Amino acid sequence: MTSPVPSAAASTPQPEQTPGPAAARRPAPHELLGLTSPAYGGDYNPEQWDEATFAEDLELMAEAGVNLVSLGIFSWARLEPCEGSYELDWLVEIVDRLHDAGIAVDLATATASPPAWMAADHPESLPVNADGVRLGFGSRQQYCPSSTVYRERSAALARALAERLGDHPGVVMWHVGNEYGCHTAECFCPACAQAFRAWLADRYGDVERLNTAWGTDFWSQRYTSLEQVDPPAAMPTFHNPAQLLDWRRFSDHQLRSLMEAEVRILRQRSTRPVTTNFMGDFPATDYWRWAESLDIISDDSYPDPADPAAAHEVAWAGDLMRGLAGGRPWILMEQAPSAVQWRGRNSPKRPGQLLLWSLARVAHGADGILQFQWRQSRQGAETFHSGMVPHAGCASRTWDEVVSTGRALKRLGPVLGEPVRAEAAVVLDWESQWAMSSTIGPVGFGERFETARAWHRSLWEAGIATDIVPAGADPGADLTGYRLIIVPAILIDYPGLARRLEQAVAVGTQVVVVGPSGVVDVNAGAVLGGYLGSLRPLLGVRVTDHAALSGPVSDDDPRGTLVNRLSRAVGTPAAESWTGLEAAGEPLRRVLDRMGTPTPDLRAGGWAEEVRVDEAPGGIEAGWGGEPVEVVAVFDGRGGGTDLAGRPAITRRAVGGAGSGWYVAADLDALSRAALLKLVCAHARVRPVVADLPDGVEAQRRGQVLFLLNHGDRAAEVAGIVGTDLLTGKACTGHVVLAPRSALVVHCAPNTHPLTECNPDVKQ
Ligand code: GLA
Ligand code: ZN
Repeated sequence: MTSPVPSAAASTPQPEQTPGPAAARRPAPHELLGLTSPAYGGDYNPEQWDEATFAEDLELMAEAGVNLVSLGIFSWARLEPCEGSYELDWLVEIVDRLHDAGIAVDLATATASPPAWMAADHPESLPVNADGVRLGFGSRQQYCPSSTVYRERSAALARALAERLGDHPGVVMWHVGNEYGCHTAECFCPACAQAFRAWLADRYGDVERLNTAWGTDFWSQRYTSLEQVDPPAAMPTFHNPAQLLDWRRFSDHQLRSLMEAEVRILRQRSTRPVTTNFMGDFPATDYWRWAESLDIISDDSYPDPADPAAAHEVAWAGDLMRGLAGGRPWILMEQAPSAVQWRGRNSPKRPGQLLLWSLARVAHGADGILQFQWRQSRQGAETFHSGMVPHAGCASRTWDEVVSTGRALKRLGPVLGEPVRAEAAVVLDWESQWAMSSTIGPVGFGERFETARAWHRSLWEAGIATDIVPAGADPGADLTGYRLIIVPAILIDYPGLARRLEQAVAVGTQVVVVGPSGVVDVNAGAVLGGYLGSLRPLLGVRVTDHAALSGPVSDDDPRGTLVNRLSRAVGTPAAESWTGLEAAGEPLRRVLDRMGTPTPDLRAGGWAEEVRVDEAPGGIEAGWGGEPVEVVAVFDGRGGGTDLAGRPAITRRAVGGAGSGWYVAADLDALSRAALLKLVCAHARVRPVVADLPDGVEAQRRGQVLFLLNHGDRAAEVAGIVGTDLLTGKACTGHVVLAPRSALVVHCAPNTHPLTECNPDVKQ
């Protein structure tokens, strides 16, 4: 049948460009905020308290060393008690008094939660969920991002605040909204449906192009007018993946446009820098794009003290924020002083952990440490969320640790503005994540960058400093400065990224691509002729099929087969919990032999691919190499995955003798990732920040300052540390001992820096 629609090539929009973060071109936060030591403080909500408490707050803030508070985040109802009539005097008075006390203000535009009058008088401003239910008032963030009244009233409030306080000497920064999308990331109301259509009209021009991009000939989904297109609300069965992917792009765009509108208003009336608080790798918002509008990148981060890998969460979010800031420092806008209240079980921070994790944030590039919130609320949904001043008052461990953290941060002036330098990078791409969660099969993918996190964690566990960089389109960031780049499950095929990776490999970089990558185009349509798409010339392999495995915990694991008399007789590769891999060459075998673990074999679970090595890789694209592909490991049929036995699982294509493109066709377990990284890092000449550290001790450095962070439960000894301990002012002359959950911050003299011995190859 001849298709009446234009060809896909003609109608497929190219990915939006993601240029380098604008924050990279702006001064560092400490310059913008006039800091001489890291910012310290928290969300401040004095309207919940009386005058006597306010007076006490000022004294306690001085005792804790607070120099910055976020004010007015949830104050809209007090600032505009009736539509259009403002009461700002009380806020101005608080800013005045804080300023007199030497405490600077990060002033919120107060638009995070509209007041009751908006819900009552303009019910259409309330958001509608995918089931068509309009959500009610009485919680927070109950606004539809397309609501005209919300847009008008939030803009007017931002304007009123900027006009009244935009040049107040006590206001040093603007805090736009709060955690955009945290509770309401999408809305399915008629206004959003209309806005979605307008966004689609903008993207595709006409309905025929949309039909082509979305593949609507499948399941009779052809539209004859854009007016027929609805948001992907509740439906009988699977959505069209392209529709879902565009919906996620639209929802991100819609929220971002709210932030951008406020930023424009503030910039017209105030010279103060602008931030909004991010939420780490929050799935709904493409922060590479959000960062473009901001002067300062800030983050809210709540690792679970009950999670043994919580310190990795700190590192992951910190490296991501630094990436979003274009390598510049950022600010931790919120962490819990102790427990949160929103988990099923809410563990308090362990003794020492507030300071340790604060310093860990600084080690990963933060120049400010703020908490949610200053004083623990007495009422409301967050009554049992910790505060810097707890319910118990100052006779408490939390308060003692708040004060000692403030004192420690005061001593870290030498760290301000100092860069973290990393030789390794992990690529992170929100659109690929959206494509993964919009795509149906071959396995259900998670929402939180699981593959990227796993590989970042392996690098972190190995002590290697790592940047996080965008996949972007052309022109993207130059990647040739990295010795090692991990491309973890970047599902969308980006020719621009492939080109930049080729450039890096050509100058000696080791690029490790982890599947599934290069599987779909920007419309979630499958790449034909073998997955990996534009990455094929670099890797010299193509993926010819996916093989889903069940993952590490399943009814069909070895314990399950002890009792499952009927199903244990049936062997299907997808029912196995893991699959074995075998080193195919000497180098990896040697690494495994040397690892000294009881089971130094290779395993993967959850994901494996059938890979075909291109016989003449040089022929894929004229002018590119021609070096043979080396099979580093094969599937060996142990565990499950027997159908893949003998096929390549890890490959490497060396280019020009120095750089290479590695492909990993399975989600390796931690031990296997560590083994492979040992081999790749040897090729890349990437070394840990400090070699041979004891268990539990993380090392990071910023400029001449070395952070040793003991996350472990035991004291740890480290040798060869020479410099000044910034927290005590004492000299370190070699051997240091770190108590459990404690840190050492050492200013190392040039040339006697321990890293110059441990890591002589770091590029300056
Ligand atoms: C978020 C919000 C805060 C508060 C904290 C509690 O980060 O921004 O207002 O609700 O969660 O953890
Ligand atoms: Zn809506």
